[in-house]
Amino acid sequence: MSNRKDDHIKYALTYKAPYNSFDDMELIHSSLPQYDLSDIDLSTHFAGRDWEFPFYINAMTGGSSKARSINQKLAQVAESCDLLFVTGSYSAALKNSNDDSYDVRKIAPEVLLGTNIGLDKPVELGLQTVAAMRPLLLQVHLNLMQELLMPEGERTFKTWRSHLTDYASQISVPLILKEVGFGMDIKTVEYGLESGIQTFDISGRGGTSFAYIENERGGNRSYLNNWGQSTVQTLLNLQTLTNQAEILASGGVRNPLDMVKAFVLGAKAVGLSRTILELVERYPAGKVIEIVNGWKEDLRLIMCALNCQNLSELRLVDYLLYGKLSEANR
Ligand code: FNR
Repeated sequence: MSNRKDDHIKYALTYKAPYNSFDDMELIHSSLPQYDLSDIDLSTHFAGRDWEFPFYINAMTGGSSKARSINQKLAQVAESCDLLFVTGSYSAALKNSNDDSYDVRKIAPEVLLGTNIGLDKPVELGLQTVAAMRPLLLQVHLNLMQELLMPEGERTFKTWRSHLTDYASQISVPLILKEVGFGMDIKTVEYGLESGIQTFDISGRGGTSFAYIENERGGNRSYLNNWGQSTVQTLLNLQTLTNQAEILASGGVRNPLDMVKAFVLGAKAVGLSRTILELVERYPAGKVIEIVNGWKEDLRLIMCALNCQNLSELRLVDYLLYGKLSEANR
């Protein structure tokens, strides 16, 4: 029997999203600069702490030997590049106490480590996860459509809202309420804020599609593969909340230009899954580290070309929307 986590990796890598909303957004550049390249500051703040760089390796895997080697490599890259690394959902280890696929500190003792769990899990399992992993933060994911499409998925959902209140009041590390690539809607963010959550990874459509993954795993509802809202549309929908909520963006982020577009729309940081998975599958860790460090230089370069010294100044950059984004936001 194939391992579910290994299927996720396999189908995430074979999927090519038909549409990426970052392609429909163009930034208005500046011809006359005020800053030198060395003036540009990439630092950011979210989940209760300062971060040197505004992007992170987002939740992917755990629970198989392939997952172990991927997690180890991702942790090595993150440690070397001073990036946050969030493991995949800890649920596999909660079912199997011998699971060491999340135990990346053996390889990368100084890594900035976060972990992840589904909101279907009661807070007792969240507490167990935090005790076992001692993470800097806990992502709590919302994956409703994925559960619905999985034959073995959850069928009862009414507990999720009370779980959210329990997590907000009982988990001792900062929480991030997270989508998995369908785009978080404004009502969910508002409900999260009311429940005491401050930070949201709105993970939109445009990169990994869990609808596609579940349909490839044996589902027959491929007409739902494009379910949800694109990452840029999701960010546009949340513009009224960017002062109250810490918005993090993920979903289809391929390069530093996509990252900067998300910052212009108010994201405090961006998460990458598929893009970085592809790199660690293709190259040795040393080469991935070189590429990722290159992204930091490229972020500085793009910010300089927009005449912005830091992420807050990026908020003032004008932009144009084309295609679907322009139709939806007239
Ligand atoms: C994921 N994602 C994910 N999210 C989560 O909250 N918990 C998880 O365990 C996983 N597992 C997982 C496995 C694999 C192989 C991939 C590619 C992704 C979702 C991920 O964190 C992110 O929200 C989406 O993948 C969208 O970002 P990308 O892939 O388009 O950069």
